[in-house]
Amino acid sequence: MKVLVTGGTGYIGSHACVELLEAGYEVVIIDNLVNSKKEVCDSIESITGKKVVFYENDCCDKDALRKIFKENEGIEAVLHFAGLKAVGESVSKPILYYENNLGSTLSLITVMKEFNCKNIVFSSSATVYGDPTELPITENAVVGGTTNPYGTSKYFIERMLRDICVSDPDFSVVLLRYFNPIGAHKSGLIGENPNGIPNNLMPYIIKVATGELPILSVFGNDYDTHDGTGVRDYIHVVDLAKGHIKALEKAVKSKGTNVYNLGTGTGYSVLDLIETFKKVNNIDVPYKIVDRRPGDIAACYADPTKAYKELGWKATLGIEDMCRDSYHYVSKK
Ligand code: NAD
Ligand code: UD1
Repeated sequence: MKVLVTGGTGYIGSHACVELLEAGYEVVIIDNLVNSKKEVCDSIESITGKKVVFYENDCCDKDALRKIFKENEGIEAVLHFAGLKAVGESVSKPILYYENNLGSTLSLITVMKEFNCKNIVFSSSATVYGDPTELPITENAVVGGTTNPYGTSKYFIERMLRDICVSDPDFSVVLLRYFNPIGAHKSGLIGENPNGIPNNLMPYIIKVATGELPILSVFGNDYDTHDGTGVRDYIHVVDLAKGHIKALEKAVKSKGTNVYNLGTGTGYSVLDLIETFKKVNNIDVPYKIVDRRPGDIAACYADPTKAYKELGWKATLGIEDMCRDSYHYVSKK
């Protein structure tokens, strides 16, 4: 089966391409390389020993999408990763975020319908739950309390895709709400290492461990959590990628909208992550406690039961694997 992967050279998309190829799918990638490099295709191919078809195009460009569907006849499903994801940037550039994230999805759906391709798996986020009232978070929790344009774009796209399903009973949408993906492929050939000063915790820890940045700031130690620092549901990106194969199978055999949390179900604090990283990599990560980061919540972790019951998927890799593989990726370069 042929699958179009938007954003396939990005962090999560590249790991999903590996899992797709290893499961026997044919992979066509579209990525405008705004946040990734074409060489990632070589890494995907050397891990799997299989070829991908790559197009450097923008998903907002309907004509480019039409060309891809024409040249790769029989694309049956789309994994839609393409999107901008920097929360802070989305606050200062909301038009860019809405234009890119909503625009790419609308163009994609339009062209999918033209080519009678009606199965899509979408990269949503736990951010749609806002500040959760109950933990662990189930898929039935209230959504929409988003606090920045990035999160709101995810919430809007979820709504748009649900509406498409209502209007076209043959359409099948799987919404995957990711918790906090970290880690990298065990080969060390693909992973995440953003340029500049990272916003997210693991990329920041790595830059301190490698000496690129002097010290990690821990944002608050007065939360109502076991050690006062923020608690999150970190999930290994390879587990997350495997979840997409199960979601794809679900999309192809069902109709309408289905939504799943992809998390481990276990929350770890900032200090838990730092201490584990130090231990498994035998390296120091100097840190200092500073004020809370505005907009942060105390704790956020998934109830992943639904994905297990309905997709037969659950995370298998632990926090030590995540810390080891994240560092292996950067230290191997
Ligand atoms: P990433 O930036 O590494 O990958 C996204 C890819 O999409 C990049 O390669 C980028 O070049 C490409 N892209 C962006 N806009 C495009 C466009 N208009 N046309 C074509 N390509 C475009 O990010 P990621 O971490 O791999 O995230 C993948 C998806 O998962 C995103 O939609 C993101 O919002 C979502 N998500 C990520 C996280 C996370 O923590 N990484 C959490 C929840 C949800
Ligand atoms: C971030 C995104 C969110 C996205 C989620 C999953 C922000 C504001 N939110 O949330 O939209 O869905 O990732 O990828 O970026 N921390 C530090 N020091 C740092 C960085 C982070 O102490 O330098 C702490 C944070 O306060 C938090 C935890 O580490 O408690 C995790 O932070 P981060 O990696 O940014 O993820 P989220 O805040 O969960």
